[in-house]
Amino acid sequence: MSETNGTGGTGPRLRAVLDGIPTYKPGKPAAADGPVAYKLSSNENPYPPLPGVMERAVAAAGSFNRYPDMACSGLMSELAERFGIPMTHLATGTGSVGVAQSLLQITSGPGDEVIYAWRSFEAYPIITRISGATPVQVPLTEGDVHDLDAMAGAITDRTRLIFVCNPNNPTGTVVRRAELERFLDRVPSDVLVVLDEAYREFIRDPEVPDGLEIYRDRPNVAVLRTFSKAYGLAGLRVGFAVGHEPVAAALRKTAVPFGVSQLAQEAAVASLRAEDELWGRVGTLVCERTRVHEGLVGQGWTVPDSQANFVWLRLGERTVDFAAACERAGVVVRPFPGEGVRVTIGETEANDLFLRAAENFRKEHL
Ligand SMILES: Cc1ncc(COP(=O)(O)O)c(C=O)c1O
Repeated sequence: MSETNGTGGTGPRLRAVLDGIPTYKPGKPAAADGPVAYKLSSNENPYPPLPGVMERAVAAAGSFNRYPDMACSGLMSELAERFGIPMTHLATGTGSVGVAQSLLQITSGPGDEVIYAWRSFEAYPIITRISGATPVQVPLTEGDVHDLDAMAGAITDRTRLIFVCNPNNPTGTVVRRAELERFLDRVPSDVLVVLDEAYREFIRDPEVPDGLEIYRDRPNVAVLRTFSKAYGLAGLRVGFAVGHEPVAAALRKTAVPFGVSQLAQEAAVASLRAEDELWGRVGTLVCERTRVHEGLVGQGWTVPDSQANFVWLRLGERTVDFAAACERAGVVVRPFPGEGVRVTIGETEANDLFLRAAENFRKEHL
């Protein structure tokens, strides 16, 4: 007997909500044997693992026949100590995007609304729609910053979760303490606000608050952090959330069992113990960010101030051509067609190639 599924074909009936959800688009890799030499398309860290990480990871590899520590106890206690928070306020996951998916699972379903700025991290609409909830996208301001007033105005009695991406991916722009506090004061206490701080370590603006200070007095605020960016462990998939006990406990309950490998747990612990080197590398990338920003401004581009490990060029209809020109020059960047290009700060040589490509593009096209 044949059956009709949601798309009119035969086979198992899949959830209709999946129709039309775009697949997550990873940054394009650098070609292995072509002219392209550098990948600046995924906000990765150009450095190899921090000192001590490989040794610990290799030692963990000897136990691949065993399941990992499901509670991530070693990593949890290291995080608790490092950030001065109780273990009961922590939950880990397969990258911060894995934890973000759990945040939706614990708060939102069909009929509920999830608010976030747009453009922002491209996983938000995908994971929101997978949950069955309705995305409510609030455009960034003219200056490519979160419009917190408009976001507060978008709250209804159906709102369950709000993402605030600080700094925002892909624009690098930030919301500052006073405006964030004012916004949080307007959010009903039964709506969870998630401060996504994937790029926290790259912030140099003293007016940008640390989410870990904000969450303490606000039971409806949770903070997302990752080992993928500053810590350079994108390939190992480990991130975490910090929130009050009911939220963190619900996240631990819904996490994929054994999702964070032992390798990832050990590497994350070793990375937390290599603080001096971490801050050295982050400092170098921040200097490079300033150099790239100033270089672009010097060439005549308008570039929002970035507090992350990437810069944003609003290119509109020229976006795709610009990305192609960069690729020909040896750097793969991340185009958002019709909007702009996000360029990760990479190795000095990669940044140089990018600056040269941007300069040539200006001369030829603008
Ligand atoms: C704002 C933001 N949040 C979360 C993530 C997810 O990172 P991961 O899942 O590797 O921790 C990213 C990755 O690009 C991001 O840009």
